[in-house]
Formats: sequence, structure tokens, C-alpha cells
Amino acid sequence: MPVTYVSGTAPGGLPLVGHAWPLMRRPLDFLRSLPAHGDLVEIRLGSVPAYVPCHPELVHQVLFDDRTFDKGGPFFTRLRDIVGNGLGSCAHRDHRRQRRLVQPAFHRARLDGYAGVMAEEAARLSASWRAGETVDVFPAMFGLTLRTVTRTLFSARLAEDDVARLQHSFAVALSGLFRRMFVPGPVQRLPLPANRRYARALADLHTTVDRLVTAYRRSGQDHGDLLSTLVAARDEDGNEGLTATEIHDQVMTMVFGGSETMAASLTWSLYALARHPETARELHEELDSVLGDRPVTPADVPRLPCTGQIVTESLRRYSPAWLFTRVTTVPVDMAGRRLPPGSTMVVSPPVVHHSPAVHACPAEFRPARWPAEPGRPPREGAVIFGVGARKCIGDVYAMTEAVLALATFCHRWRMELAPGADVRPPALSTVQYPRRLLLRLTDRPR
Ligand code: HEM
Repeated sequence: MPVTYVSGTAPGGLPLVGHAWPLMRRPLDFLRSLPAHGDLVEIRLGSVPAYVPCHPELVHQVLFDDRTFDKGGPFFTRLRDIVGNGLGSCAHRDHRRQRRLVQPAFHRARLDGYAGVMAEEAARLSASWRAGETVDVFPAMFGLTLRTVTRTLFSARLAEDDVARLQHSFAVALSGLFRRMFVPGPVQRLPLPANRRYARALADLHTTVDRLVTAYRRSGQDHGDLLSTLVAARDEDGNEGLTATEIHDQVMTMVFGGSETMAASLTWSLYALARHPETARELHEELDSVLGDRPVTPADVPRLPCTGQIVTESLRRYSPAWLFTRVTTVPVDMAGRRLPPGSTMVVSPPVVHHSPAVHACPAEFRPARWPAEPGRPPREGAVIFGVGARKCIGDVYAMTEAVLALATFCHRWRMELAPGADVRPPALSTVQYPRRLLLRLTDRPR
């Protein structure tokens, strides 16, 4: 018998702002409350209606049909300010070509090279910490993942002030991005301090990336990194590659995709371990038995199943990538409603990750619910990395980096929650992460 889905409307929308307030202030609570109102729920982003598929099957329907539900809507419109028409934000008509040209940068052989950089950067950060120190985790992880993604992109190590500037400009641009999803166009163009800050951050990002790309292209060699692959990429007929603007946009896309989300993922994993000493003990046992006294290397990733399960479960439980949008290109009948072309769809992974129909006891942190396949993204039951043609191109990269970094830190340090932590995600953030996770480090007895 075909399943009948029902649609509903979220209560509490206000004139002009719609549901912007709960979405900005307590987004996960708001989104997780929606399935109680239907399988497809109408909300309002400012004055614009938007539809949230709440049944996991409807989420899959939207994500798998990338022709009917194309990239668009307020999230991607604003994201294009930062990443242009790169792989993650381009429309369906440009996507196949871009994906084919970018894909070689994520082939196995390339990933093996990136893993060396990931292990080295994690070891460098771990060695900079001292016993007794309290670490503010998210900024430390953001610095690490930004350094790692730019080194795998450009092979050269970035100067510390470049890392700090990129980190700052990304943070300003990303928080502006989310706020601007709800603000009407003319207000976005007023010379207000927030608009000026946003414009300055964007200009700085584009200038820094242009400078790095230009310096890199001058050398013209294959450095075994992501940018070499992008510069060398050619269409099937061997003629047309990516234009300079497209390369710029791909670089911005990768830095965006590979930094803040990665940092949030690592931060949540460390938080979960501090909250679950039994899981931390199992992890330490695995690390001691596989590594003994030597440092972690990329070859260890497949031998660390418990580490991989902790990474995956943290991504499910805390869902750092929590919202993206699509726009319908044709009339769509869904859950008894007819959605006209141009309708905004809001897809939220936590709605699936917290559905009891998909995961038993979804509120619990249970790494053992996942198959022991370290370094591999989960194949079923989660939309952590999206699904279908627009699935994350960096999923294996991300899992490898997370396993290497977590193993490096936890092999060396015992980490306990320190006073002053505030793990509520910040308002207005594109990625969910604890706004201030403080961990106190002590030596691990061997
Ligand atoms: C834990 C870390 C990560 C998470 C949770 C994550 C999540 C996601 C999700 C959910 C999507 C699909 C978005 C949509 O359907 O609209 C996506 C796409 C994408 N991600 Fe990731 N990502 C992560 C790491 C990375 C890394 C490390 C990179 C690159 C170095 C990256 C690059 C991309 C790109 C380029 C796309 C667009 C793919 C396409 O449309 O063909 N991501 N990511």
C-alpha cells in the first residue's frame, strides 16, 4: 500500500519575520519540533513560505531528484556571495561538468597524499599543547582544519597571519550569510555597520584566495595537491578545463566546505568523549593496542574502528551541517500539496538523524550503532554528507581527517570539561558547534 503523507503548518510565525526568530535562536529545537505538525511542514523565512520535508522518505525524494529540486533558495543564494558558482552552489545545468572536472582531486591516490598532511597538522597542534592547559576547542579546531584544507589545496604551508585572517573573514562572512537569509534585499545594501563588515570580510576572502591562486599558478607544476588537479582538469575531449573564475570559486568552495564543518565535527567528538568516559576508555584501549607508543599515521585509519564510530555518531547526534535549501523547478505534488515552481524547500539533516523511525533512541550517544568501517562515510541511515548527485565530494576526506585528528589528540591527552564551557550552538551560525567548549588537558598514563 502506498504511504500517505500529510502536510501541516508550523505554529508561531510572526508578521514580516515569520519563523526567523526560533530558527536563529534555537534552530535544532525548532526543526526537531516540526515532524509533530506533518510529513511536510510549511514555515516562513521572513515573509517567504518554505517547506520542510520531515519524513525521511520525503527528505530522500528531495535530495535524490536534483533536477526537480535544484540548488537555490535563500541559503544557496547567500552562499554564492562567498563561493560564487562553485561545485556546491552551482545549478543542476552546470553540475555534471563541474563534478567531473573536480572529482579527480578526490581520487584515492590524491587522498593518500592529503592524509599525510592531515596527520602532520594534527600532530603539530597536539605538540603545541601543555599538560594543565585549558583549550578553547572550536577556535583551535577551526585553525587546524583551515590550515589542513589550505595545505592540501595549495601544498605550501600558509603563513600564520594568513590563517588568522582567513579564519576571521570566514567567521564574519558566514555569520552574515545566515542573518542575510532573512533580511530583504534593499536592507542588505544599506551602509549599515553589519553590512560593511560583511562586505569587507568578503573582499578580504576573495583577495587572499586570488593572491594564493596566482602565486601558485605561476609555478605551473603538479604539486600533488587539489589545486594542481583543478588547474590540470580537462573535459572529455581534452580541451576545455576550468576557467580562472571557476578555479577561484572551487577554491572558495573547498575552503568553505572543508574548514568550519570539519572543525565542528571534531569539536563535537571531543565534547562527546568528555561527556561519556566509558566511550573514552574504549577509545583509549583501541589507540593503545593499535599504536603502542608511536604516533598515528594514515595507514592506521582502517585499524581504528572505534575512533571511526565515534566520529560518525558525533556527526549524527550533533549534525553540524544542519540546514540547506533547494528550489523547485517544476510544479510538485507532495504530501497532498501542490508546490508551484520556485518554491523553497528547507532540508535539515537533524530531522532525519533524530527520527525514531530511522535510529533507535536517537537522543542517546551510541557509537556502536554504526558498522565498524573507519574512514568511510556511513552508507545508510544518515544524511550527514547528503545523498544523491549532490552528496559531499569531501566525505572520505572528512572521515579520514577526523579519525586521524581524534586519534592523535586522544592518544596523547586526557581531556576533561573545564568550568566556563557553554555548549549551546551560537545563534546565526551556518554550522552548529558548541559556542565555547573548554577542555582541560592532562597527560595520559601509559
Ligand atoms: C564533517 C565534515 C563535512 C560535512 C558534515 C559535510 C556535509 C556536506 C553536505 C550535507 C553536503 C550536501 C549539501 C547539499 O546537498 O546541499 C556537502 C556537499 C559538499 N561538500 Fe561537504 N561536508 C564535510 C566536509 C567537506 C570537506 C572536507 C570538503 C572539501 C574539502 C567538502 C566539500 C563539499 C562540496 C564541494 C560539496 C558539494 C558537492 C556537490 O554539490 O557536488 N565537504 N557536504
